[in-house]
Amino acid sequence: MRVMVTGGAGYIGSHTAVELISAGHEVHIVDNFINSSPVSIERVEKIVGQTILLSEVDMCDHDTFAKVFEQYPFDAVIHFAGLKAVGESVAQPHLYYQNNLVSTLNLIDLMAKHNVRNMVFSSSATVYGSPSELPINENASLHATNPYGQTKLMIEQILNDMSVSDNDWRITALRYFNPIGAHKSGSIGEDPKGIPNNLLPYVSQVAAGRRERVSVFGNDYDTVDGTGVRDYIHVTDLAQAHVKSVEELPSRYTSFEAYNVGTGTGTSVIEIIDAMKSASGKEIPYVIEPRRPGDIASCYADVSKINSLLGWSAQLTVQDACRDSWNWQSQNPNGYVS
Ligand code: NAD
Ligand code: WQD
Repeated sequence: MRVMVTGGAGYIGSHTAVELISAGHEVHIVDNFINSSPVSIERVEKIVGQTILLSEVDMCDHDTFAKVFEQYPFDAVIHFAGLKAVGESVAQPHLYYQNNLVSTLNLIDLMAKHNVRNMVFSSSATVYGSPSELPINENASLHATNPYGQTKLMIEQILNDMSVSDNDWRITALRYFNPIGAHKSGSIGEDPKGIPNNLLPYVSQVAAGRRERVSVFGNDYDTVDGTGVRDYIHVTDLAQAHVKSVEELPSRYTSFEAYNVGTGTGTSVIEIIDAMKSASGKEIPYVIEPRRPGDIASCYADVSKINSLLGWSAQLTVQDACRDSWNWQSQNPNGYVS
């Protein structure tokens, strides 16, 4: 298939580009590098041994974005592009609504005009808000707790409405739990700008000596050791879920589906620190801090839907992810700038 990968220079998009090309698909990346580096695409090209079509475009700029659809044919779009930092979205909600919604509306408009109606969308477990039951299945109630989450929820709603209005659309929303890890080569990985918000990049920077210690946000939750529990999914497994999803679209009967993408098991903050300690062979000092506002105790996926309907299940473990993150971190101590 000829697949447009929006946000393909980013963390998950770059890993998905590798898996798509390895599965025999053609990839065309659309990205404006607002949160990524063109170096990631050069690295992907090295891994797969071929050049990749790239359009450097802000998807909010409809006229420039339209030219990509006028020049190239596509069978499907995997839509990763978006801003994703929860705290930033609380501080600058207009930026998140503007970027994430306008880019998606432009994309839908251009896809419809050019008769491309197969889409996989990057949603998030954040759409479940504070879940009332674990593991979380796709029928759980949806409610966002911050502007970033609102954009995911709104986009799912828009896509669902599109699929109702025109039954030719084939749309999959993948609700990722906590993506971690890096490509096994260590040449592409997660490269957060500034101080990482997420646990794994923070822990690997402490292992590398770039930061002093991990702040563990709360040890009084009702969990295995009192620290927060999440469903950490290796980014390569996640990338392969996109390949399966995009391949399924043309033959699928239903117009819109949402799938959880996780492992189905939870891991605590302390267990992550221990796994990174073993993977890196480094000491990882940590200090217990108060709970982070807005955090929940535990979150992990019911993955039976994606297991049975797409035949996908996670193959890699948290230990594999820590090994691969450490490989990426130690080869690229300053991310793509190094
Ligand atoms: P990322 O920031 O590394 O990648 C997103 C890419 O989109 C970046 O390369 C950025 O430059 C590009 N982009 C943003 N706005 C754009 C625009 N207007 N035009 C063109 N390009 C634009 O993020 P990621 O971690 O790879 O996440 C990919 C997607 O998955 C996002 O939609 C994110 O919300 C979603 N998601 C991520 C996580 C996570 O923890 N990483 C979890 C759940 C869902
Ligand atoms: C994981 C655990 C923290 C950092 C976020 C978004 C979510 C999704 C994935 C996009 C929690 C603890 C963290 C630290 C810590 N993104 N922690 N010290 O909060 O589950 O999800 O990223 O859709 O929308 O909210 O991930 O990695 O921030 O936290 O103790 O320095 O690690 O309290 O228990 P989270 P996270």
